[in-house]
Amino acid sequence: MGGCDRGIGIGAFDREMSGSLPELGVNIDHVATVRNARGGFDPDPLSAAVMVRKAGASQIVCHLREDRRHIKDQDLRLLKQWNGLPVNLEMAMTDEMATIALDVSPDLVTLVPERREERTTEGGLVLGAEMRDRIRNFLPACHQKGIRLSIFLAPVKEDVDVAISLGVDQVELHTGEYANARTPVARRMELERLKSAALRMTGSPVRIAAGHGLDLLNLPPVLEIGDLQEVNIGHSIISRGLFVGLENAVREFLAVIGERPECSGQERIR
Ligand code: PXP
Repeated sequence: MGGCDRGIGIGAFDREMSGSLPELGVNIDHVATVRNARGGFDPDPLSAAVMVRKAGASQIVCHLREDRRHIKDQDLRLLKQWNGLPVNLEMAMTDEMATIALDVSPDLVTLVPERREERTTEGGLVLGAEMRDRIRNFLPACHQKGIRLSIFLAPVKEDVDVAISLGVDQVELHTGEYANARTPVARRMELERLKSAALRMTGSPVRIAAGHGLDLLNLPPVLEIGDLQEVNIGHSIISRGLFVGLENAVREFLAVIGERPECSGQERIR
């Protein structure tokens, strides 16, 4: 335990002892949303990233949308130049975004579906023939630049099989349906879907991540997903940060995951 008194449950203790604690990626889009509401410089997403790192998270997540409603191109470039934590760029599989990604070279690109009228990412990527071709073309270009490629998928076993066959580096399982489930039974069913989809990747080289709609209360059961290596959380951390401070908010989530806040993100990534 390395002398860390984290006050966490036995589940987290077991995960730590087996050396399989998932890393935390913090999505800072909504820092930019607040900034953009006034069109000035505050609050500054890069300053938020520095705090996220100080609190001990493992990566910064941001979604460069076609309409640039939150993070903007310059934010992405500054995050990359800062080089304080790995950057996970969420983006739609468009020519414009592919060009930006290959130019900026984030550590990870997560392909997500994007519809202009949606409030947030709804559903996973639809892996039709055209999308599969696009991923097949984009993947070697990413690897040449040292970018790992993740795709955001609903917990559907058939889609996971396609992802494995495409050779992507990571699948991020969409936890939105789980988070939005209205009854304990529905929530348990969604959790089982997530676990089954993840099980499909066990033994494959594909890294397993999860995210969307997660908060302090619904996160613990998600941590039971086998071989889960990363959770990406945005809205609830930024919201909580308004009341307790961003650094404290990140630490609260890390405590749930069972992390040791005093270890820097960079140390854990190695
Ligand atoms: N993971 C992915 C792929 C996402 O698109 C988002 C939302 O941008 C998140 C995680 C974070 O979701 P939330 O803001 O609901 O925590």
